[in-house]
Amino acid sequence: MEKKELKDTLHLGNSEDSEQKYRRIFECSMDGLLLWDNDHRIIDVNRAGEKMIGIPKERLIGHRVYEPHTILEKRKQEILKHIDQVLEKGQTCSTVIFKDEEGNSRYFDCSSQLDILGGINFTIFKDISEKIEIEEQLRKSATLNVIGELAAGIAHEIRNPMTALKGFIQLLEEIITKEHPMYYQVITSELTRIDSIINEFLILAKPHATRFQENDLNKIMKETVDLLSAQAVLHNVQFVTDIDSKLPLVFCEPNQLKKVFINIIKNAIEVMPLGGNITITTKMLEGKRVQVSIQDEGAGISSEKIKKLGDPFFTTKAGGTGLGLMVSYRIVNDHQGSITIESEEGRGTTFFIRLPLDLNEKKETL
Ligand SMILES: Nc1ncnc2c1ncn2[C@@H]1O[C@H](COP(=O)(O)OP(=O)(O)OP(=O)(O)O)[C@@H](O)[C@H]1O
Ligand SMILES: [Mg+2]
Repeated sequence: MEKKELKDTLHLGNSEDSEQKYRRIFECSMDGLLLWDNDHRIIDVNRAGEKMIGIPKERLIGHRVYEPHTILEKRKQEILKHIDQVLEKGQTCSTVIFKDEEGNSRYFDCSSQLDILGGINFTIFKDISEKIEIEEQLRKSATLNVIGELAAGIAHEIRNPMTALKGFIQLLEEIITKEHPMYYQVITSELTRIDSIINEFLILAKPHATRFQENDLNKIMKETVDLLSAQAVLHNVQFVTDIDSKLPLVFCEPNQLKKVFINIIKNAIEVMPLGGNITITTKMLEGKRVQVSIQDEGAGISSEKIKKLGDPFFTTKAGGTGLGLMVSYRIVNDHQGSITIESEEGRGTTFFIRLPLDLNEKKETL
């Protein structure tokens, strides 16, 4: 009796009807749904799943769940780890990371259940890449705000005694250079270095005079490349550019953006001691955004280190300050854009700088 009532409530008629209903539920689910067998082969995937994976159903069915993404052995291992857990515990939830066809990391929240029907396993998955990216940006911008305030305070405190020092050293120039010309040179060049570090710090401080205007990003990039061309030649580095000549103007502060490009390109040069190519691309993205990518052929960065990039004073270089990327994050943040990094150890690193064409609320133009 109870059974009959339940069946009536669900309006389940004959088995063909009910199969169609379940298929509709399967197809209309907003989460990705995947059925796979004990040989790890995909039996079925719903429309949302197909869209999230970015590969048509015909190319998925019959393949092993990790096969469409075997770009990196490491990604395959992560999917296999999830499968192993399902097989061992009967069910599991974990975040699986793999690269899409454009080489971007995608984060999928996966919950899997073993043997829902004889020999068929079931996975529900959700693309959480955007959420992860936003969380990471929030974490970075919170640190940046604190450091920005600190930096402004410290920089001001150091600036005043520095001005006095520079002034008095200049007064002593004649006396010192007579007896110790080397000392004078070292003192002044070190003072200049301190000055430039303080200037970097001051950029971190929020209220600074910036001139936001519509600018040609390709022109800014070209000027940056020209500026660094001598250094590139010295390090046996060639620039390969793939510029989208139809790029619209971007509302930005050109000198600030130049600073970002200089920092990232300098890092790229420094990571290739034997020389190589730096590929610079500009292109339009969906949603009124543009993307600049800077790709090197250096040693790459491990995933633990990628998380630390942009943190204050994180450096692996003997003479590095570890402020270059931090300043860059701050500037791109001010432009309401984002920096993401893709890297493969031993192969190289790509920095993607994405900027909106326009800001939500226009910055004050001074
Ligand atoms: N393209 C890259 N390839 C590999 N590692 C990189 C790359 N860019 C940055 N890094 C790593 O990130 C660290 C931080 O970079 P950042 O530019 O902030 O500081 P730095 O280059 O060490 O010092 P500074 O820029 O002040 O001279 C570097 O020390 C390096 O380990
Ligand atoms: Mg640097």
